[in-house]
Amino acid sequence: MPIQYDFDRMIDRRNTASYKWDQLTALFGGEDVLPLWVADMDFPCAQPIVDALVRRAQEGVYGYTIRTDDWYDSIRGWFERRHNWSIPAESILMSPSVVTSLSLAVELFTEPGANVIVQPPVYYPFFDVIRMNGRNVARNPLILGEDGRYRMDLEGMEKLMQDSAKLMLLCNPHNPGGRVWTREELSSLEELAAKYGVTVVSDEIHCDLVFQPARHVPYATVGDYAASHSITLLAPTKTFNIPGVQSSFIVAADAKLRTKLANRIKTLSLHMQNFFAHTATIAAYNEGGDWLDQLLPYLKENIDAAIGFFERRLPVIRPVRAEGTYLLWIDCRGLGMSVADLKRLMFAEAKVAFSEGSVFGDEEGSGFLRVNCACPRPLLLEALERFAAAAARAGEVSKS
Ligand SMILES: Cc1ncc(COP(=O)(O)O)c(C=O)c1O
Repeated sequence: MPIQYDFDRMIDRRNTASYKWDQLTALFGGEDVLPLWVADMDFPCAQPIVDALVRRAQEGVYGYTIRTDDWYDSIRGWFERRHNWSIPAESILMSPSVVTSLSLAVELFTEPGANVIVQPPVYYPFFDVIRMNGRNVARNPLILGEDGRYRMDLEGMEKLMQDSAKLMLLCNPHNPGGRVWTREELSSLEELAAKYGVTVVSDEIHCDLVFQPARHVPYATVGDYAASHSITLLAPTKTFNIPGVQSSFIVAADAKLRTKLANRIKTLSLHMQNFFAHTATIAAYNEGGDWLDQLLPYLKENIDAAIGFFERRLPVIRPVRAEGTYLLWIDCRGLGMSVADLKRLMFAEAKVAFSEGSVFGDEEGSGFLRVNCACPRPLLLEALERFAAAAARAGEVSKS
């Protein structure tokens, strides 16, 4: 009998050293703020993962750990089954986190001062890993169409590539905005990359959080150039809600890119396997599929519920429909508020913490908010209700 998960159940995460729940006063000014920001889920994870970790903890000796064949097999099996992607074991490198890998790629594949392409609005560590490594952010903003859907600006991309950029950080699926890039879009990108000799670092951490009819396409599978001039950054952490165990890996088909990464990872002594991450990863990929299959429709309903809520209660706000990820990007520019006003509205008036948009790109994200919909529906609706009521009060005040 498969386990039935109850995603409506509220779990009290306070006092668990939670990044999301245990910094409410420090970050937002009060314990009564509902946090729907940083991207982890307020759901219990798959029972087979819990069971495997409990068994592992009960061993009672937490020694240095190797990557066993079943670690590789679990990853390869999952990507074969779920994404129709055969990954040779020798292409897989362990890395402690996806952001670590992003930073290593910038450091290893470009020279100081080089331009690195990103498509804002985008997950903010993309900017950090470029700037903090002493490189330049080459911005190629996504275009928000009349249909409320983002697309890549291929003309802008070509200009940046012509103008010397040799590395691009791709977010596939895209956070925020929830685009799941199609094979055609990725092929167009590959064509440009091949024309100008660009390497693409494809962050695919959200690859399993995709709603039909959208389908995730690994960038490395769109063609020969993409396969040999890219690395793909992956992790079970977002998919299975285990980011605290810190587990991720890089797929690099090209031996030269792989060797550079492997040497640097060894130099920084990041190459040792984490005892618990090893176990959690194997359990997640081998036994977590059933949990994910139950979770995805729930997430989709949450996103639909949030979109419906805004349509009914606050039509001035225009949500960008997510094809993937559990992050709803909402266009609040119709409220006519500055970034500071929006923050005050959220934290002080509504007592909710969504992610404020300008951190995803000053120009492209200001006036937007990102709502983390991976929480029990009653919590999501309560947060939206608070936000709508506060926005209505603010509207009254500004009218009077
Ligand atoms: C696009 C993207 N990449 C990477 C991460 C974080 O990955 P990690 O915790 O492995 O560094 C996130 C987390 O929200 C994300 O959205």
